[in-house]
Amino acid sequence: MALMAVPRAQSAAQPRRVSILGSTGSVGRSTVDLLLRNRDEFTVEALTANRNATFLAEQARQLNARFAAVADPAEYQALKAALSGSGIEAGCGPEALVEAAERPADWVMAGIVGAAGLASTLAAVRRGRIVAFANKEVLVCAGSLFMQEVATHGATLLPVDSEHNAIWQCFDFERVGHIEKITLTCSGGPFRERSVDEMRDVTVKQAVNHPTWNMGAKISIDSATLMNKGLEIIEAHHLFQLPSEQIDVVIHPQSVIHGLVSYHDGSVLAHLGTPDMRTPIAYVLGWPGRTAAPMQRLDLASVARLTFETPDPVRFPALRLAREALIQGDGCPTVLNAANETAVHAFIDGRIGFLDIAATVEDTLEAMPAVKLGSLDDVYHLDREARAIAAEQTERRARNHRPADTA
Ligand SMILES: NC(=O)c1ccc[n+]([C@@H]2O[C@H](COP(=O)([O-])OP(=O)(O)OC[C@H]3O[C@@H](n4cnc5c(N)ncnc54)[C@H](OP(=O)(O)O)[C@@H]3O)[C@@H](O)[C@H]2O)c1
Repeated sequence: MALMAVPRAQSAAQPRRVSILGSTGSVGRSTVDLLLRNRDEFTVEALTANRNATFLAEQARQLNARFAAVADPAEYQALKAALSGSGIEAGCGPEALVEAAERPADWVMAGIVGAAGLASTLAAVRRGRIVAFANKEVLVCAGSLFMQEVATHGATLLPVDSEHNAIWQCFDFERVGHIEKITLTCSGGPFRERSVDEMRDVTVKQAVNHPTWNMGAKISIDSATLMNKGLEIIEAHHLFQLPSEQIDVVIHPQSVIHGLVSYHDGSVLAHLGTPDMRTPIAYVLGWPGRTAAPMQRLDLASVARLTFETPDPVRFPALRLAREALIQGDGCPTVLNAANETAVHAFIDGRIGFLDIAATVEDTLEAMPAVKLGSLDDVYHLDREARAIAAEQTERRARNHRPADTA
C-alpha cells in the first residue's frame, strides 16, 4: 500500500499550520493564492525561495509567516531589508532551507524545482510531516531510499502532480490487486505535432509556451521533450508501488482527464478538471477534507471533444529513456534526472539545442556504469558525478551548436 493512503485525524477547529518550500515558484504561488483565500483555515510557519528575496518577503508579510529563507546567501541582505520591521525572521543558505522544513508545521509543500529540493524535503519527511509532494525530481533521484525515509519516520506523502493526484483520488488502496494499470495523461506539449527536423531549432520561448498548463520554466521544457512524463512514470512507480508495465501514458491534448485507474472488472475510474494546479493543491491542502478553490469549473459541453493518442517514442526519446532507467533500476533514474537538469539548464542558457537535451541524457546514461545505491550519500555522490559527465556532454554539443533565432 502506498504510504500516502493512511489518513490522519485532525481537529477541524484547529487551523492547519503550513510551510512552503519554493513559495515564489509556480506551485508555490498557487499554494499562496489558496491560503490567502482560506485565511481562517491556515497559519503559515515558513516560506522559502532561491533568489527572489523581494517577492518572498512580500508573500511572508501577506501571510504573516514566522520565517522566510533564501537558498542563495547573496540575497540575505535584500531579504532582511525587505522584512525589516515585520518581526519575520530571515535565513539563508541550505541550512536555512532545512530549518524552514523542520520548523513546527503540520503540512509542508515540497515545491522546489529539481534535486536541489532533496535535503529540505527529506528534513520535512524526517520530522514525520504531511508532505504535499510536487518536487518530483526528489523521488526520481532518491527513489526507494526516499520512500524508506517516509516509512521510517511515519511521514505522509500527498501527490500534488495533477496526474498522480488524480490517480490517488481514484485508486483503491485496499484492493490494489484488483488494479490492472494506471494511466498518466500527457498534453503532448507545444511540439506534439512537429517532426524531429521541425524541433531542431525551436527556441526557449517556444519550448516554455505550454499549450494547456502555466508552469515554471524547467517543467515546461520537460513537458516539451516529454521527459516530464518520463519522470512522472518513475514518480508513480514509487508513490503507487506499481511496476513499469502497470503504468501507461496516453497523449490527451485537452488536459481535461488527468489520470485513470483501470480495474480487472473492466471499470476505468478517471479524474477530470480544468488544467489549473490549484485543484490538486486545494485537495492536498484540505486532505482528508476538501478546500474551496476558485478556478474555472469544467464545462464538458464547451470542451466538446476529448482526444487521445499514443506517444511517439521516436520523436520524443526522453519518455523511452526514463522508462528504461526505471526498468534498469539501481542508480539509473538518478543519472537520468541529473543529466536532464544539466541539459535543460544548458538549453535555457542557449548553449545547446532542444534535441540535444534527450541526446545528452542518453549519452550520460551510456557513459556511466549502473551503480547500486546503498545510502542517500550514494545518491548525492552519483548525482554530482552524473552532472559532471552531463556537463562535459553539453560542452561538446555546445561547440557545434548554432543558436536558434531567439525572437
Ligand atoms: N508548475 C506546475 O504546474 C507543476 C505541476 C506539477 C509538478 N510540478 C513540480 O513542482 C516543482 C516546482 O515546479 P514550479 O513549476 O513551481 O517551479 P518554479 O516556478 O521554477 O519554482 C521553483 C521554486 O523553487 C525555488 N528554487 C529554485 N532553485 C532552487 C534551489 N537551487 N534551491 C532552493 N530553491 C530553489 C524557486 O525560487 P526562486 O523564485 O527564487 O527562483 C521557486 O520558489 C517541480 O519539481 C515541478 O516538476 C510543477
